[in-house]
This record gives sequence, C-alpha cells and structure tokens, in this order.
Amino acid sequence: MYAPYPENMMESIKKVEATRAERMATEPRRLSADEKDALLKKFHPDYNPDAFAEIKVGPNKGQKAPLELTKMLHSESRLLNEKIDLTKIDYDVDVLIIGGGGAGSSCAIEAHNAGANVMIVTKLRIGDANTMMAEGGIQAADKENDSPVQHYLDCFGGGHFAAKPELVKRLVMEAPDAIKWLNDLGVEFDKSEDGTMVTTHGGGTSRKRMHAAKDYSGSEIMRTIRDEVLNLKIPVVEFTSAVELLKDEKGQTAGAVLLNMETGDYSVARAKTVVIATGGAGRMHYQGFPTSNHYGATADGLVLGYRAGASLLYQDSIQYHPTGAIYPSQILGALVTEKVRSVGAQLVNANGEAYIHPLETRDVNASGVIRECEEGRGVEVPGGRKGVWLDTPMIEILGGEGTIEKRIPAMFRMYMNYGIDMRKVPIVIYPTLHYQNGGLEINGDGFTKEIPNLLVAGEAAGGIHGRNRLMGNSLLDVIVFGRNAGKKAAAKCKEVELGTMNLDHIRKYEEELKNAGVDTGDVSPMLLPKYARHER
Ligand code: FUM
Repeated sequence: MYAPYPENMMESIKKVEATRAERMATEPRRLSADEKDALLKKFHPDYNPDAFAEIKVGPNKGQKAPLELTKMLHSESRLLNEKIDLTKIDYDVDVLIIGGGGAGSSCAIEAHNAGANVMIVTKLRIGDANTMMAEGGIQAADKENDSPVQHYLDCFGGGHFAAKPELVKRLVMEAPDAIKWLNDLGVEFDKSEDGTMVTTHGGGTSRKRMHAAKDYSGSEIMRTIRDEVLNLKIPVVEFTSAVELLKDEKGQTAGAVLLNMETGDYSVARAKTVVIATGGAGRMHYQGFPTSNHYGATADGLVLGYRAGASLLYQDSIQYHPTGAIYPSQILGALVTEKVRSVGAQLVNANGEAYIHPLETRDVNASGVIRECEEGRGVEVPGGRKGVWLDTPMIEILGGEGTIEKRIPAMFRMYMNYGIDMRKVPIVIYPTLHYQNGGLEINGDGFTKEIPNLLVAGEAAGGIHGRNRLMGNSLLDVIVFGRNAGKKAAAKCKEVELGTMNLDHIRKYEEELKNAGVDTGDVSPMLLPKYARHER
C-alpha cells in the first residue's frame, strides 16, 4: 500500500477515503453571515487581543497594529546618527520607484512610456517579490456572463464592506485592460483551443473570473514585466534599500536615502515623485505564523511612509491563507494555492468530515481550519503541528486523470519532491501568513493624503481590499495600481518644484518617540528578516 505519511496520518486518511464518495455527492453548504461572523470572532488571529499594541506616535496614534509592526513604527531611524551629505546627489530622476516587484515594475514601464526619467531601487533583485510567488491567478470580469459590477460586489462584500469605494472601482473597471496588457506583453495565460482564456472560481467569487498561467501565474507575470523593464532599459539599482524618504521645506517628498546592502554605503536619490512599492510583511511572522511570502517582505514601505507623515489604513488587518503546507517541515508555510480547491479539493478534518465549503472567503476558511485543530479534529504531523486535510485525489476523480499535472503542476512537483503523490493521497495544511490587507492610505489616483508627490502601489497600499482580500485580486491590484501610479507620477513630476532636501522629519519623529516614552532599542525599517545571515 502507498504510505508516504506516518501511521497516525495514514489511519486518518482511511476515514477521508471512507467518506469521499458521499462528500462528492453532497457539497458542504455555505455559511450564513452570522455564522461567518461568529467563526471569525472566535478563531481569526486578527481577533487575538494579545497580538496587537497601540501606536503611540504619528498619524495613526491611538490605533492598534500587530505587535511586530508597532515595534518597527516605534523604532529609531537608521540615519539618526549618520552624517548624510544631502548636497551630494548620486541619482537625480523624475520618478523614484522603491521596490522591484509587480507593482514597481508595471509602474516603471508606464512612467517610462509617459516620458519620465525613472529609476527602480530594490533591496534584492528585480522580481524578488510576492508577485513572483503568487500562484492561483488574477481576477478580471471579461467574460460575457460577468461584469465589473459583479466583481465589485464580490470584492467589496468579501472585504467586509470596508474597502474604499473609489479604489475598488478602479480595481474592477481596469481589470479587463490589465489582462489585455499582460497578454499583449506576452504572458502565457491558460487558453482553450479557440483561444479563449480559461477561468475558474476563487473563494468568494460569484463568477469564474480567475485567469491563470497554471499554478505559477505570478511567476509568469513577473517574468514578462521584468523582461519589459529590462528591454526598455529602465535603470534598476539592485541590492540597495531605501532607508528613509527625503523631504523638502514644502512638505513634499524629494527622494530617498539609499543603503547599499553589500557595502553598507549610503547614497542620495533626488526625485520629483516617489512611489512606494515595497510589498508585504510576511517575514514579520505576526503571531509566530510561518509565511508564504518572499524573503524581503518586512513592511519597509509602511515604516518609511509613516515616519515621513503618511497615514496607514487597516494596519491591523492581516490575511492568513487557509492552506499553507505544514508537512513535510521543509516546506512549512509554503503556499498551497487556492486553485487546488477551485479545481475540486475539499477541506476535510481528521475524522473525514468536510466541515466547511472549500471556497468560503479566505478569512472564514482560515478560521475554520484553526477551529478544527483547536477543537481536537486536526491531524497531527511529526513535530506536533496540527492541520487538516486537503483532499486532492478528488481533483483527479472530478476532472479526470491528469488534471493535477495539467492544472496545478507546481503543486504536484513541490509534493513529489518529498515523495508525496497528491493524486493518490491528500495533503495536510494550516493557515500561513500571506498578505497585509492594510497599508499606507491612498486616494483613487494612488497618492497619499499627506504628501502631495508620494504615491503607493501594490501590497504596501491599504484600502483596496478592505479587511479581507479575495484570491486573484492582489496580482490584479499590483498591475492596475502599479500602472496607474506610473502614469500619475510621470504627470505629477511636471508640476513639482523641489525645495531643499532635508531629513528633519526623522528628528521630529524621534522627538515624538521620546515624548511618548517609547524606546524599543531597535532600528527600522527591518530590511531583512531577523534570521538573515549578516556578513557585516
Ligand atoms: O492561493 C493562491 O493562489 C493565492 C492567490 C492570491 O493570494 O491572490
């Protein structure tokens, strides 16, 4: 008998197999709004009061944020005791883009095409970003049975009616054009023989509008737009972090101070507009969760923008993807794409019960997994973690032999590397820290409220998804808001007259920290996770 798991797990699999036929005949029912609310309040990590602290300074003073983010917001600037010569300008551009992921790259392409002199600065390499890690797909209402209005309703409802309407409107209205833009640039979307795009459901979608490149959609998109950035010869300064924004006496941003991650040298970039596109925060490991995020996801942009005076929105709202790998331990936290459920796998507890609909919204499904484990219906894996089954053999039964290799080949390979054939046995999962729902607040055009020539795009922006994001709306938002930021930044730089660059805001912020009696003993932004190897 094929037995890639220890005995206790194989015993539980017998129960999963025993209920499979019946489960396939009767799909789990959808939860009512009240049931979802009750589940979230009891089990979602955002409702854990011990995991948050009050922000003591700055525009969001008095509000709460995760402990780890609060610490970064309360920490000292790296430049407080550095002598930076701001008269020596190393880079002088129209548009400075901080971050080389999907949002930063699409921003750069559009700003360049609008005639601006653009530069990307990125602390790792271009494309080392959460965009590259995205798997399941990108939403757009571009089929006959769908409409942007329908997409709007799904997104707004899925985000608990908290998203900023002007942002959701832009997201859904510009989605079909985003797909066309990517397709024209060369993204290899899944298509049927007649050339129409294959689309599937994601959690909380009322129509099949998930466009994908198998289960490596983000990597395919990032590959394409990175090539375009390089083809256009847009300068990309790699292994270099922005450590503070620069401002002028008019309250505008005037660029950034950069740190060469290899040499430790500082440099100065002057810019008429700055776009923060630094991505997410998974490597902060809120509440000790493993993460699906790339190595550089440490919330840097939030700290840079906040210290310069830009406000945050929904900084206390975090997305835990319901299906992160927990076995084998080598892939702890790795994303098991929602597409696995879109193509037929159910969430099943240790007793073989499909206790929830597999395509509830992410926050609801994550809470469901946590409930099953806390109430004793989880499957224990070696090392003591608990999770629930994702019944992947169902995919082959429903879709026919070969469906797994055709539709989710990256998942298949990831598990086969460890001798687990997901066509034959289910896989075991638990929520993984996946996305920051909140970020720096922007208006419909991508500008911050407080700093007139500072824009934010991608995961560093807050308000697009409210308090919960649907699958496939992040790849979409990096393209829609990235492109938009590029066009708007290029237009804005024509009217910006920069004054004298200064770093007064970091001293003022430090003063506020002192007055609030806050001293973390740490510096921020974090730049690399705490477990990074430091050569210097
Ligand atoms: O499950 C996934 O493939 C993740 C997609 C997303 O976060 O949008």
